[in-house]
Amino acid sequence: MLDFGGQYNQLIARRVRENSVFAEIIPYNRITVSEIKARGYRGVIFTGGPNSVYDAQSPHYSPEILDAGVPVLGICYGCQLIAYMGGGEICSADGISEYGKTQVAVKPSPLFDGVPGTSICWMSHTDYVKTPPEGFEIIAETANCPCAALSDSGRKIYGVQFHPEVTHTEYGRKIIENFVINICGCAGDWTTDDFIETSVKKYREELKGKKVLCALSGGVDSSVAAVLLHKAIGSNLICVFVDHGLLRKDEGDMVERVMKEEMGLNVLRIDARERFLSKLAGVTLPEEKRKIIGTEFIRVFEDAAKEIGKVDVLVQGTIYPDVIESGKGDAAVIKSHHNVGGLPDVIRFEKIVEPLRDLFKDEVRAAGRKLGIPEYLVSRQPFPGPGLAIRIIGEVTKEKLDILRESDAIFREEIALAGLSGEINQYFTVLTNCRTVGVMGDAGTYGYTLALRAVTTDDFMTADFARIPFDVLAKASGRITNEVRSIGRVVYDITAKPPATVEWE
Ligand code: XMP
Repeated sequence: MLDFGGQYNQLIARRVRENSVFAEIIPYNRITVSEIKARGYRGVIFTGGPNSVYDAQSPHYSPEILDAGVPVLGICYGCQLIAYMGGGEICSADGISEYGKTQVAVKPSPLFDGVPGTSICWMSHTDYVKTPPEGFEIIAETANCPCAALSDSGRKIYGVQFHPEVTHTEYGRKIIENFVINICGCAGDWTTDDFIETSVKKYREELKGKKVLCALSGGVDSSVAAVLLHKAIGSNLICVFVDHGLLRKDEGDMVERVMKEEMGLNVLRIDARERFLSKLAGVTLPEEKRKIIGTEFIRVFEDAAKEIGKVDVLVQGTIYPDVIESGKGDAAVIKSHHNVGGLPDVIRFEKIVEPLRDLFKDEVRAAGRKLGIPEYLVSRQPFPGPGLAIRIIGEVTKEKLDILRESDAIFREEIALAGLSGEINQYFTVLTNCRTVGVMGDAGTYGYTLALRAVTTDDFMTADFARIPFDVLAKASGRITNEVRSIGRVVYDITAKPPATVEWE
């Protein structure tokens, strides 16, 4: 996929991979047509993007791609770019955008195999193709967009103005399947099994006789990376698990037990709870907290590495979205445990390996399951590196951490009891620094306000608050105010992202 800056790019890659076809996203200016041919790609997708093809600054690509013998599918901006490269005419609808669910009528085409004559698609554009280039025909239209899709089926070049990758496009998945399987001729045989087998074989040879270090954070990515490497090199892998005391209730013990006892890994757990707490004393600004936690983590890791002695290789749990988000199409050399800072120069590694750098989160989870990691660890919701410290507004203290941990455990339990854990992508509690007046028995109280946060999202870039039934909220609130000392009031955060973020800090 050539990336022209569209917001749904990761989603397009996901959809391609749902067909068991490997896809990677490359910035459009990082690969030439001859490289595309030489590397043997079976097809190219031009992503959407925010620009207008006639703008001087807009991203362009060599028109030679249209004659390279490789099928091309352009989406939104990518469709306009194909038309532009072929000599067609693009028009701006004078600031009037076509946005949202739209009825689209399609003509018979290999791209629309199995797609009914009319269906719903998702539009989000201002410019549109007015005249397709010579040799192209219009294969779809909407009421406001005379050319909603175009094709030159001889050269296997296709463009769609709408977004097949979003779920609002009823037959979007079918369209992408038609492109990758029927038009590009991909076999659709890329599986997680292959991934595990190939990686184990590769690292067994590559890391033979080397001492390898892995920082376990307790999260899914580093756990899967560690278990995979353990399968390849056994006891030559040493895992360091820094317990910073900012994990959820019982989480540290659970990770240690599973990794050590169930998976048989060599785990060194370092109790650094006091160290982190004393560094965080008196600190109230979120960014400062993040920096302190990142730096302290490095110090603790550094001390542990010194004790272990010479280590040749470091394992990182970098996954594909991290690679893309680094914006360079190339992972930053170090993704530290907390996504802040980096490991210090004093720890020298011959090499860094990132076994998961081609996988999306759900593929990492699938690999984890295949590797035998228990479901409750593999399917856990995301948890930020700085942990509970960014869910306590203001200063972090042991007392506040205990309050937050208890309330969070109750909320998670109630969500699970209501059968909602599979539907909500992230849910947790936030200890606001705000005390409010209340009444308990005959006495007045002045306890903390606790916020419940729960979101649904595809990619965490945007999110909506989860529509949790009132009885579930009522039960959670009742239990929290009864069972957790110092909480006098519970509120539910009903803000989407944007304008808010998922976390409160
Ligand atoms: P926001 O709050 O930015 O969160 O909407 C989006 C996702 O990122 C997680 N998050 C973090 N993860 N270090 C991390 O490793 C951080 O500093 C951090 N801040 C937010 C958040 O939990 C959500 O899943």
